Amino acid sequence: MVRVFGADAVRSAVPPQAAYDAVRDAFVSYQRGEWLMPPKVYVANYPAGDFRAMPALGGGHALLKWVTSFPGNPARGLPTVTGLVLLSDAEDGRLLAVLDAAAVTALRTAAAGVLGAETLRRHDAASYAVVGCGVNGAETVRLLVALGVTPLVWDVDPARREAVAGEHGARLAGSAREALACDVVVTVTPGHEPLFARGSLRPGQHVSLMGADGPGKAEVAVDEVGRARLFCDEWQQASHGGELTGAVAAGLVSRTDVTDLGAVLAGAAEGRRNDGEITLFDSTGLAIQDLAIAKAALAKAGELDLPTIDL
Ligand SMILES: NC(=O)c1ccc[n+]([C@@H]2O[C@H](COP(=O)([O-])OP(=O)(O)OC[C@H]3O[C@@H](n4cnc5c(N)ncnc54)[C@H](O)[C@@H]3O)[C@@H](O)[C@H]2O)c1
Repeated sequence: MVRVFGADAVRSAVPPQAAYDAVRDAFVSYQRGEWLMPPKVYVANYPAGDFRAMPALGGGHALLKWVTSFPGNPARGLPTVTGLVLLSDAEDGRLLAVLDAAAVTALRTAAAGVLGAETLRRHDAASYAVVGCGVNGAETVRLLVALGVTPLVWDVDPARREAVAGEHGARLAGSAREALACDVVVTVTPGHEPLFARGSLRPGQHVSLMGADGPGKAEVAVDEVGRARLFCDEWQQASHGGELTGAVAAGLVSRTDVTDLGAVLAGAAEGRRNDGEITLFDSTGLAIQDLAIAKAALAKAGELDLPTIDL
């Protein structure tokens, strides 16, 4: 019997705070070598978009996410991210659950962005902003509000920013400039053009950059990256299809310049060192994050009236 979690079931099973806790634990387990994650495979069909196959193994389960990123889709009334997550028993290989990939992705993406922020921000950070109020930005706002933070929100589309602010009780920024000047900024845009121009990152600021999760995308100008203390979710992904890719290609950044967030969370590496540092977290999205959410959902299956399929 395979349990089927549609988007609503995923969201019912895994509240934002539970997603945050599960993703933090996944980063630590992966850092300690307890969870495994073969490289993400990109199947590109640019400029339309790309497909990603993302496997992981940990905690008695194996996972494969088959998911898209088609940035032009919203203009056609279609979602940017769609696909499925398959969760199997790691001991006997049985398929246990099928989950809506967009809902899993939104929960774990929001969790990673906020986790990077809460781990690396200044202790006295007083202002937060989320820039980009699409599917994953909206989920980031929902998580911050659940954690007791009221962020400023900004999107180039006034209807989106107003809808997200209204739905989650966030505050509308007066301009992109106001949002980008906050102590903590989580960016979740398509990454077609940098949001942070050269010289615009402020001392002491933290930025979690979520939008650049594939080749050719960036939310910060390449030469601005060098001003920041750099963190990533996973070096191979970040250096080949993330925010850091341009700076790596230009020879401005190499492996030793970048710390894994999991190492900081596991106490194996230093995070922020002083209040003046700019900290930059490059998230490309990891299958271990999806595994964390899928496992958390499956643990609640007994409390939900879920459809099932027999294969
Ligand atoms: N790092 C990760 O783990 C991860 C996970 C999922 C998606 N992503 C990436 O995040 C990005 C957003 O994904 P989504 O599914 O939320 O997309 P979406 O299309 O639902 O939302 C994107 C939003 O950004 C807004 N936007 C575009 N340009 C902007 C700008 N210059 N300033 C402010 N807002 C702007 C759009 O109006 C839209 O509301 C994509 O590039 C996607 O590939 C990353």
